[in-house]
Amino acid sequence: MKVEASAPGKCILFGEHAVVFGQPAVAVAIEQRITVIIEPIEGEYWKLEGGRLDASKHPHLNTLRHRLWPKSAGAPALSIHIKGDIPRASGLGSSAALSVAACAALRAARGRWITENVTGTDGWAEGYASTVTDTDAFEAKDDPEAGIRLDQFDKRERHLVGNEAVSIDECALLGHAVEAAAQGGRASPMDASTCAHGGVVLLSDVLEPEVEHLYQRRLAMRDGMRTWELHDLGMPKGGDEVYLVIGNTGVYAPTAVQVAKVAEAIRIEPQRMKEIETIGTIARRGILALKKGDFEAVGRAMIENQVMLKGLGVSCPELDTLIRAAGPSSLGAKLTGAGGGGCMVALTKNPKATSEAIELAGGRTHISKFGNLGLRVEVAKDVPFWSPGQ
Ligand code: PMV
Repeated sequence: MKVEASAPGKCILFGEHAVVFGQPAVAVAIEQRITVIIEPIEGEYWKLEGGRLDASKHPHLNTLRHRLWPKSAGAPALSIHIKGDIPRASGLGSSAALSVAACAALRAARGRWITENVTGTDGWAEGYASTVTDTDAFEAKDDPEAGIRLDQFDKRERHLVGNEAVSIDECALLGHAVEAAAQGGRASPMDASTCAHGGVVLLSDVLEPEVEHLYQRRLAMRDGMRTWELHDLGMPKGGDEVYLVIGNTGVYAPTAVQVAKVAEAIRIEPQRMKEIETIGTIARRGILALKKGDFEAVGRAMIENQVMLKGLGVSCPELDTLIRAAGPSSLGAKLTGAGGGGCMVALTKNPKATSEAIELAGGRTHISKFGNLGLRVEVAKDVPFWSPGQ
């Protein structure tokens, strides 16, 4: 019995920080991925890499365990292995990738009851979805017969397992919820949704024309409700001819500190909100260029975005050095994520030259093609391990 699920990391092309104030932002799934492998084990305690899972060190896994794999409903202990090539805590979405991959693995391993002859998420007898508010996933119902049971309205319910049971939407929703829980209630859905859906994801405060709307996300924060409209931008024309080169400064800079720094700067000088709005305008220009497949213009928008981010005080000398080094061989380069350290990203048609230039300037690089696959269940052997109501 074994399930393996993987999800990509992400980098932000436009709009970090401004997105916290409702401006649009675009994130792209990268080639680097995290894989979560789960197997049922005897005994009471969960294991991570062979040792006992410490819930306080792994809040994402712990929250998911409570939501999807409750001991109180008879779920067995699990052994978890995590592998991958997304550097941790560097703005590349490693925790979101881990969360959505773990969510998919748990869902594939427990399966999902669905109501037959009802399409879409309306047919879900259990589980989480943007359109399902009743999240009573754990209530055991009538005795099942070969994976079929009757619900309270005498409708037949069927048990799906493995890949078929996994909903990307559910993984994105739960991924966002556990990220928010682990970050003291503050997290935009950008990471979880990009790691779950893959490709190119656009966040905005409004419904954007001419692109596929995925769903709306809401999150109550201490200072009020936040609402985001998420869209799938699709693979832009010519996207297979450009690459992203990510340069890691190796400087540790927690997202929360950077976000607080920007909030404080605006509290002291409210007129600086203009800078946030300018980032929004630049992001819109970049989005239009992406839609047209005009990567020269995308690169120019990235350069302009970086000028604004630097003005906001979220760049740092190490990032500036790597961005400068990438300049001559790339279409555009900027910091990606919260800044203050972490990573920069360059858009380039010449990934080898750009990568070498960044490495010479002291950065560690990852090369990624543009627009990558989202969440995938790689292995689902002898599933379900366990299921409520079975
Ligand atoms: O550092 P990351 O990859 O978590 O990105 C943070 C992006 C911000 O816009 C700064 C914050 C946010 O929640 O969107």
